[in-house]
Amino acid sequence: MEIKLPEPKRKGELSVEEAILRRRSVREFGSGKITLEELSQILWAAQGITGEEWGYKLRSVPSAGALYPMEIYAATGEGVYRYLPEEHSLKQVQKGDVREELYRASLHQDFIRDAPLVIVIAAVFKKTKSKYGERGARYVYAEAGHASQNIYLQCESLGLGTVAVGAFYDEAVQKVLKLPRNHKPIYIMPVGRKL
Ligand SMILES: Cc1cc2nc3c(=O)[nH]c(=O)nc-3n(C[C@H](O)[C@H](O)[C@H](O)COP(=O)(O)O)c2cc1C
Repeated sequence: MEIKLPEPKRKGELSVEEAILRRRSVREFGSGKITLEELSQILWAAQGITGEEWGYKLRSVPSAGALYPMEIYAATGEGVYRYLPEEHSLKQVQKGDVREELYRASLHQDFIRDAPLVIVIAAVFKKTKSKYGERGARYVYAEAGHASQNIYLQCESLGLGTVAVGAFYDEAVQKVLKLPRNHKPIYIMPVGRKL
């Protein structure tokens, strides 16, 4: 099943300076759900297509060699979805709520179970390493940082909160999300309404 996401906004209420100033990691969330518009905005910030040059589609975050190794997943109460940047759509990869299992795979950090939305930043290391060799690994981690910071700032602008989580069992997270073997999780970012 593929879900077309609403067109993301190109203008917001908050300046980039205000978003940087206000950004804090949030680990307690209110009960409100995340709307499809908000999810669309967050995914666009993380990895959306923002332009085209020489026939190459370029994205919201820089990428070594414009190879774009990131794979973004979203887990909600309804299922697990993979973000398709070119179509700006979601592909459902699993039905049902896996947040409890994700929480267990992440050292019982309870805000992962409690968040209405959990974004997972994964990457295909081979894409970048096939051009840059071993050095490609550091490029992939740097790129995950760019995507994560965009998510932080976009959440701030939407009045939402998030936290970048690096403490989890890689294999367990991969199993819970049923990720392809070459999609390696780097960050988990629960998202929710601030209290
Ligand atoms: C690589 C990395 C891994 C992190 N892992 C976790 C984590 O597993 N759990 C958590 O609650 N916060 C995690 N954080 C968030 C930091 O604790 C947080 O950024 C730091 O305390 C500074 O607070 P601030 O983000 O509100 O400025 C991580 C941050 C980074 C950059």
